[in-house]
Amino acid sequence: MEKQIMSSTPKKIKMEERKGRRVVLFPLPFQGHIRPMIQLGNLLHTRGFSITIVHTTFNSPDPSLYPHFTFHFLHEDILSQSQTDIIAFLKVLNTNCLQSFTDCLARLLSDDHESPISCFISDAGFTFTGEVARQLNLPRLVLRTGGVTSFFVFAAFPFLREKGYLPIQESRLEEQVAEFPHLKVKDLPVIKTCDPDYLFEHVSGMVNGAKSSAGVIFNTFQELEDAAIAALSQDFQVPIFPIGPFHKLLPNSPPTQPDQTAAITWLDKQAPSSVIYVSFGTLAALNEQDFVEIAWGLANSKQPFLWVVRPGLVNGSDWVDLLPKGLIGDLRERGLIVKWAPQLQVLAHPSVAVFWTHNGWNSTLESVCEGVPMICMPCFTDQKVNARYARDIWRVGLGFESGKLIEREEIERVIRRAMVGEEGKEIRKRVLEWKEKARDCLGANNGSSFESLERLVSHISSFDSLVFSSQ
Ligand code: UDX
Repeated sequence: MEKQIMSSTPKKIKMEERKGRRVVLFPLPFQGHIRPMIQLGNLLHTRGFSITIVHTTFNSPDPSLYPHFTFHFLHEDILSQSQTDIIAFLKVLNTNCLQSFTDCLARLLSDDHESPISCFISDAGFTFTGEVARQLNLPRLVLRTGGVTSFFVFAAFPFLREKGYLPIQESRLEEQVAEFPHLKVKDLPVIKTCDPDYLFEHVSGMVNGAKSSAGVIFNTFQELEDAAIAALSQDFQVPIFPIGPFHKLLPNSPPTQPDQTAAITWLDKQAPSSVIYVSFGTLAALNEQDFVEIAWGLANSKQPFLWVVRPGLVNGSDWVDLLPKGLIGDLRERGLIVKWAPQLQVLAHPSVAVFWTHNGWNSTLESVCEGVPMICMPCFTDQKVNARYARDIWRVGLGFESGKLIEREEIERVIRRAMVGEEGKEIRKRVLEWKEKARDCLGANNGSSFESLERLVSHISSFDSLVFSSQ
């Protein structure tokens, strides 16, 4: 396998004409990671940097949508691997991309026809890239696509293991974590895997890789995660750049794809603030029983809904065929089920009242930015921390209290609380306050994210004297 990787040649798709400082971006090949990295690329591009994206052929973005970027693809041997165990897949990615990424970057550095490289920015999940930076003597920044609060909990994993909170024991799920007063043991950011040792190794690689980088970029804003940003800045000796929400810093949101307009056309016909938008992101998978309960809960709630059932959401099925025929009929009377929705436009739509979400970081932030309260149903890793904060600290969401299996009656109750109850009104009021803060942080007049971005641009520019003398 190694031989194959060694001999693989990165395929160059587009050479852009723009000259100037260049930044190479290396996203993890999952939608929840690719999207913020591309947004970061767009942000840096508006600040005069040329952008090169190095990506696996697996899950690659379509280069024709980004004609202002140059793309290089790594032909690594990962396509045959199952992606159902995310941790096992991360191990394969980190092992198999090491050589091909190093070769690709070395080639880019020696290419005289392109503008010189100031630094590269790797997803924090590519844990081997610190070593590559050292070998090639190139500054490396890290983009952590999750929030700072959850990252701070990841950084405490050794301590949480020492104290016996991790690995999680079923009997301690409801116990408060003394050192993290807002979290219970069940909120700790873990995930089921066949390789639990690698989970700890990966988290440690991610945290140490960030600590030894030239700086860590977060898609968040100071006001939202003030305490965690302060704590992390104290713990890490490298600069921290909270410059989000990325998508709001960009002049235009991406165009809606033709096959996604159905969701917006349907929303246009609904009453203001009446629709529950339901989406569990790009990786979470439900078992059949939970899927059926969710469908019954939505049908019985009698509220209009827009539900994303993406291929892979339900184990053992690619669409709604596991649901009883009569139920599908009921659902279609009241709602729309789609395979993918233009989420940014959906959340900004006046008909949307509530977002039932898995609390992936992008979804959480996007909901806050549009002032849409949440029904929180985290599945794994950072989503658990995000959901706890959405519910108890930012107080913009409601959650389920029952055990692991959510029942239709509880779903109905939570939907009613969110849509018509007093609590619903309160979380709506608060999320609108957060929406304002999310907007204010972008302002050129003392906006915290605006200033952080300025700091990041100067930081990257400061590498030039260091790097160009050695290129
Ligand atoms: C994964 C992890 O699950 C999450 O915890 C981590 O923070 C990032 O990576 P993911 O499941 O992809 O997240 O969810 P999320 O972070 O919310 O990102 C999903 C992105 O896809 C969002 O930007 C969302 O707007 C977009 N999306 C999703 C759509 O545009 N349409 C859809 O139908 C579904």
